[in-house]
Amino acid sequence: MTGALSPIDKAKFVAAKRAAEFVEDGMRVGLGTGSTAAWLVRCLGEMVRDDGLKFRGVPTSTRTAELAREVGIEVISLDEARWLDITIDGADEFDADLALIKGGGGALLQEKIVATASDQMVVIADAAKEVEHLGAFPLPVELIPFGWQTTQALIEETLVSMDVMGRNATLRMNGDRPFITDEGNHILDLHLGRIGNARQLAMVLNQVPGVVENGLFIDICDQVVVGFGDGRVEVRDINAGTVTEDRLDFVEDDNLFSDLGD
Ligand code: 5RP
Repeated sequence: MTGALSPIDKAKFVAAKRAAEFVEDGMRVGLGTGSTAAWLVRCLGEMVRDDGLKFRGVPTSTRTAELAREVGIEVISLDEARWLDITIDGADEFDADLALIKGGGGALLQEKIVATASDQMVVIADAAKEVEHLGAFPLPVELIPFGWQTTQALIEETLVSMDVMGRNATLRMNGDRPFITDEGNHILDLHLGRIGNARQLAMVLNQVPGVVENGLFIDICDQVVVGFGDGRVEVRDINAGTVTEDRLDFVEDDNLFSDLGD
């Protein structure tokens, strides 16, 4: 089975598998969204089933909730958990300060709420997600549907005074209809090329009426677990200033590697 995985998928898998080791009995755990987070949920499900790990998970999307239940994880809402010990999630880009772009999967709003309500946030990513400057990946901004074209115009106007390379904004589509988030909102993808001041941009975007949240995660992530296609894993801790290296073996397991829908 694992022979069929691409190097990128192997990298995502080893990052997820290594980060799953951070979860301990009794924890309340934020479960991210996306293909890397789906590996994490699978790994945690295996630990629940095979090792008797006991924890409760707060998913960041309906699709993560479905997968978590499917693999035997006890799912609770954020209101039930109130506060989380750890959140583990993927990212579209991360830089040396562990500032992130998230929301490629359209779940940025719940992801930001859940990550912010956690003692620590751990990002799991393949090495290709590391960038010197954020912005090559289009920045997702969640908007309420009411008057979204006016909101788009206001955002474009705001971008004129921001330190960015491009200013093109496109409404995310799902076929011939606008993409709808779990909260019933739209997503505008900002093609900025390079973001000079991510902290300022994150604050300014959230001031525009109609904007619910943006995909810049600043000072939220504590650690990143970077996976490589050859099984190497690097754990970088921004608070401790440490980098530890590890290597994981791929173990063939039909349950873990089959039917990965995300
Ligand atoms: C979803 C996200 C994901 O974490 C991000 O898009 C990374 O996805 P993947 O692990 O599939 O590369 O922010 O909203």
